[in-house]
Amino acid sequence: MSAPIVRPLAELRALVRGWKSRGESIGVVPTMGALHEGHLSLVRAAKASCDRVIVTLFVNPRQFNNAEDFARYPRTEHADAELLGPLGVDALFVPDGDEVYPPDHATVISVSGVTAPLEGAHRPGHFDGVATVVTLLLNMTQADRAFFGEKDWQQLQLVRRLVQDLKLPVEIVPCPCVRAGDGLALSSRNQRLTAEGRARAATLPQALFEAVARIEAGEPAEATLAAAQAGLEAAGFAPVEYLALRDGETLGEPQPGRPARLLVAAWLDGVRLIDNLAVTLP
Ligand code: PAF
Repeated sequence: MSAPIVRPLAELRALVRGWKSRGESIGVVPTMGALHEGHLSLVRAAKASCDRVIVTLFVNPRQFNNAEDFARYPRTEHADAELLGPLGVDALFVPDGDEVYPPDHATVISVSGVTAPLEGAHRPGHFDGVATVVTLLLNMTQADRAFFGEKDWQQLQLVRRLVQDLKLPVEIVPCPCVRAGDGLALSSRNQRLTAEGRARAATLPQALFEAVARIEAGEPAEATLAAAQAGLEAAGFAPVEYLALRDGETLGEPQPGRPARLLVAAWLDGVRLIDNLAVTLP
């Protein structure tokens, strides 16, 4: 059986009112659909700690940098509802674009600092779109807990900052990245790789794992990252937009004694792939 699809906000609000009146906790998993095992792991985490689980499916036009990417984003609503049914999802909330952003919508949420480098530098406006829609989705669902994947590491830090700054009454629950057998981080965009590109894509996580091992063993980060980038370029990644070692929370320069993160964005086969790993600085 498929998960029940709820479209009008009024219908979602009625469900949420009923659940809250019975003292039930609500978890939300925000998605843009084209669900894969990574999303399902978030749903399982939500089911394990919440009485009710809402999955949202909204392909948010405001976080895309170009109209073609938005148009090409996979849309598989019915298959998504079928995948979610057996997991016991209480509602698949699929709001209409006009209800999320009516023509007179005038509010943009903008988080500074953590959003400036990396994705922020390469995708102008992207994080304003994410921050705005996440705020809307949290307000619409009134969830007690919201589940986000660590695959989108910078997005996760943005959401944490946003919730803390706006004092939103929701707990953000980070969930580990899910990888395919060859190490590639699962992503809806992987579907767009050719078979040959998909085979080569595993070079990306391999380069990350190797660079992390070298940095943790005390090799100089700069030379290690330069070698890793050269390896990716030789494997056909073009361009490598960034391969950077950053502080895990602020995304600024890594600080001794604090958790660091190695993050990458690179194009293969016309598909933009991102990934990241934790680094313990020696
Ligand atoms: O990570 C995503 O799928 C999206 O950025 C999100 C959080 C659902 C907002 O549109």
